[in-house]
Amino acid sequence: MKALVTYFSQTGNTEKVARAIYDAIETAEKDVVEISNVQEIDDYDVVFCGFPVHAHSVPPKVEFFIAGLPEGTKVALFGTHGSLRGGELAVQAFYHAITISPKLRILGTFGCRGKVKHSILEALMKKPENLAWATEAQGAAGHPDRADLEDAARFARTMITKARTLK
Ligand SMILES: Cc1cc2nc3c(=O)[nH]c(=O)nc-3n(C[C@H](O)[C@H](O)[C@H](O)COP(=O)(O)O)c2cc1C
Repeated sequence: MKALVTYFSQTGNTEKVARAIYDAIETAEKDVVEISNVQEIDDYDVVFCGFPVHAHSVPPKVEFFIAGLPEGTKVALFGTHGSLRGGELAVQAFYHAITISPKLRILGTFGCRGKVKHSILEALMKKPENLAWATEAQGAAGHPDRADLEDAARFARTMITKARTLK
């Protein structure tokens, strides 16, 4: 089995999760590649794709990547977000990610909180559409933390088992 872990990350949170996933998976072959540098996709049996939640959704670059994956690709999605883990604001973004392409086989999703710089939060909170998540994001300092990364590793192993057993 050959696995690709790819991610988009502006401030390093999603990259940390990507590296934890990469370290946790035990496959014959594996690669971790920033999303802009992915060259060949057909070779992989499973693709882990990570993104930071932006504006309750998936950043356009990642949306484009997911939409372009070959039919039947087994995909595990992961993301980081400032809002509460499992909260409606984050769930909305994952729901969107899952529904980008009906031709994919989505194995599962994993999300955890990711800190947002105070200066960025202050600037974003000036717009009413950011108020809800940015207010929650004040509690995301220190994330992703060790527990988040351990959860990400467990998620990764589960996804590999699923990829192996799903026909
Ligand atoms: C422009 C911008 C928009 C964001 N929008 C959201 C959002 O809608 N909901 C949310 O929970 N977090 C939002 N965040 C917070 C990021 O998702 C979070 O900090 C994430 O961990 C950043 O990941 P990165 O370091 O990999 O870029 C936003 C951050 C930025 C910079």
